[in-house]
Amino acid sequence: MAYLAYILRKITQNPGRAALSAVKYVTEFRLDRQIGISTFRRDFVPPTSASGDSRPCQPAPYRVLIDIAAHMQATGFPLRSFVDVGCGAGRPLAYFSSLGFDRMVGIEINPDVAEGARQNIGQIKRTWNRAGRIDILTADILTAEIDLTGSIIYLANPFGRTTMQAFAAKLKAQLQARPDRGVLLYYVLPLQVEALVEAFPRAERQIAGGLEAWQFFRLDAASGNP
Ligand SMILES: C[S@@+](CC[C@H](N)C(=O)[O-])C[C@H]1O[C@@H](n2cnc3c(N)ncnc32)[C@H](O)[C@@H]1O
Repeated sequence: MAYLAYILRKITQNPGRAALSAVKYVTEFRLDRQIGISTFRRDFVPPTSASGDSRPCQPAPYRVLIDIAAHMQATGFPLRSFVDVGCGAGRPLAYFSSLGFDRMVGIEINPDVAEGARQNIGQIKRTWNRAGRIDILTADILTAEIDLTGSIIYLANPFGRTTMQAFAAKLKAQLQARPDRGVLLYYVLPLQVEALVEAFPRAERQIAGGLEAWQFFRLDAASGNP
């Protein structure tokens, strides 16, 4: 019902823009169907989190995932481990699983959304026979027991500045404990990018995308030095 009310409000406010969004949503829906998953959801109520700044579930557009997949492959970074921080219903995990990661993890704070991700990943494994291991953890990234080093990390506007600062501090501490390992980080709709830049002032950084912006960071222990 909330979604229907949202759509009606958008149509009344700006019919032209609403028509463009409709085309976009139909495309997203068809791509979901082609892959065999159902990630098409738009939540309005944010999940509960200790720091109170979590964002509700909304999947990133496939167009952005296609660009990021090409970028990942061009970096030469080993495509072994992938972590989606705030994985929603699992669209990025499902899409990037075609790249052949050995291990993928989605961390999702909202149990209901995490269950949807598990179902989608189950579908992917059955339909596409993916060899790598894919796990969905129902957890807050700040307390989740996960080693992020050596991974490709993906975030799509999951939370506000307070959690972003704490997440960056956690990542920095892990990288300092494992100076032989780095990470690549992709941040879609990077509203809290300053918190990341403050924690990693020497990181290699790229800004990409137009309206659907994303940023890329190459991080290691040294990039966290002042
Ligand atoms: C905007 S959605 C992005 C979904 C997916 N990553 C994508 O790109 O399609 C952000 C998700 O982050 C989750 N989230 C928010 N705060 C979190 C936290 N502290 N730990 C883990 N997940 C969190 C939300 O429940 C939501 O499903």
